[in-house]
Amino acid sequence: MNIVLIGAGGHGKVVRDLIVLHKNIKLIAFLDDKYKEVCKKGNIIVGPIPFAKTIMSMFPDVKFVITIGDNKVRKEIISKLNLPHIYYATLVHPTAIISPSVSIGNGTVIMANAVIDSDSQIGNHVIINTSSVVEHDNHVGDFVHLSPNATLTGAVKIEEGVHIGAGATVIPYINIGEWSTIGAGAAVINPIPANSTAVGVPAKVKEEQKMEEVS
Ligand SMILES: CC(C)(COP(=O)(O)OP(=O)(O)OC[C@H]1O[C@@H](n2cnc3c(N)ncnc32)[C@H](O)[C@@H]1OP(=O)(O)O)[C@@H](O)C(=O)NCCC(=O)NCCS
Repeated sequence: MNIVLIGAGGHGKVVRDLIVLHKNIKLIAFLDDKYKEVCKKGNIIVGPIPFAKTIMSMFPDVKFVITIGDNKVRKEIISKLNLPHIYYATLVHPTAIISPSVSIGNGTVIMANAVIDSDSQIGNHVIINTSSVVEHDNHVGDFVHLSPNATLTGAVKIEEGVHIGAGATVIPYINIGEWSTIGAGAAVINPIPANSTAVGVPAKVKEEQKMEEVS
């Protein structure tokens, strides 16, 4: 499979290293708007994101992954490219442990040492980062990012666009509303409303956001 990664920052580099471990996957291009011109670095094409359309005409079997940690930016790029879902690959690090009953969407990456257990559902364009744990029966929506060492215990529902910070833990049956952020190291023991930021142990929605909701 020929792959193009869109986003050549830190997350993109780690996904590139994941691809190297798969003999049947070949990285053909790294696109990022920090590249102003198209050129070759070794065997890999680098260029700005709009070059994706040209690459599709050069390699009809190509698939893409958006390797940008920011959930909103990932979604914006997907909207701009406006490609059918089948053009997005799912990449899994060989050390990840995934139950056969798990479903994983397109454009999603599962990084080293992640564990995903029985009957969990993972959406499209999700990042399950290094050593994070998604226990049984969790629902992870599209464009979610689970940072390294985050833990979803069981039957947790994470709605679209949520960012769970590094090392945060969510106890069972908790719902986290869309586009919310959970701070690094938090322990989430209560439901978190949409579009909020919650930090601490136990996690609490930041006070200034509560004030904004009231006014
Ligand atoms: C939660 C977070 C998004 C807040 O970022 P922010 O809005 O820029 O917040 P600030 O740094 O301005 O801090 C605001 C307040 O929240 C506190 N705070 C911030 N992050 C916190 C955290 N993770 N746990 C506890 N308190 C935290 C700060 O101490 C500060 O408190 P104060 O108002 O009493 O001084 C960020 O700190 C965080 O934890 N991000 C996760 C990063 C991560 O895991 N990245 C992984 C990439 S792979």
